[in-house]
Amino acid sequence: MAEQKATNITWHEGSVTREERHKNLGQKGCTLWMTGLSASGKSTVAVALEQVLLQRGKHAYRLDGDNIRMGLNKNLGFSAEDRAENIRRIGEVAKLFADAGIITVTSFISPYKADRDTVRKLHDDAKIPFIEVYVNCPLDEAEKRDPKGLYKKARAGQIKGFTGIDDPYEAPEKPELELRTDKLSIAESVQDLLDLLAKHGLMGA
Ligand code: ADX
Repeated sequence: MAEQKATNITWHEGSVTREERHKNLGQKGCTLWMTGLSASGKSTVAVALEQVLLQRGKHAYRLDGDNIRMGLNKNLGFSAEDRAENIRRIGEVAKLFADAGIITVTSFISPYKADRDTVRKLHDDAKIPFIEVYVNCPLDEAEKRDPKGLYKKARAGQIKGFTGIDDPYEAPEKPELELRTDKLSIAESVQDLLDLLAKHGLMGA
């Protein structure tokens, strides 16, 4: 949990309600949090989902692990502390996007249950939907895919602390959805996500 450092600060309430924002946009925001091993398909499915949502007239935006680590989180590595801070910041950013009415799709390994649960609580406290999706691809399949050659490097000892090899991944116990990307096509995964959004009342009438 990050400590509150600044003192003498006061929350300044706005006058625009979330409902007014939703009415203007014609949709409600949420955070769709995808967690899973590297190469499990999080980013691939997120890209495909974002495209379909846009085609259906929805405002959606992706926050992607590798991308965010080139900007906002460029000062973070892969120690447990840095991964926690990575997820804390993204949790806060996703919450802001979702509060603004955007269907926010995050794709981060987010290997630690406690870090994901903290983000869930952040959303619950603000009454913003948080939907956790376990992008479940067995390690041997992720390793076979190895699109960036990182598993190979990790096996060769050239990357230390690689998730699934010599760093832990704690699978969600009760995700809102599990996607077995070794069995489903990308289109099937996208359809399952659309159905889930609809079930949560986030696809409109
Ligand atoms: S997280 O663990 O903090 O959630 P994040 O999703 O932001 O990770 O970044 C993971 C991406 O960083 C991987 O897809 C991979 O491309 C790259 N990466 C580089 N080093 C590591 C490592 N040690 N463990 C996992 N991923 C790594």
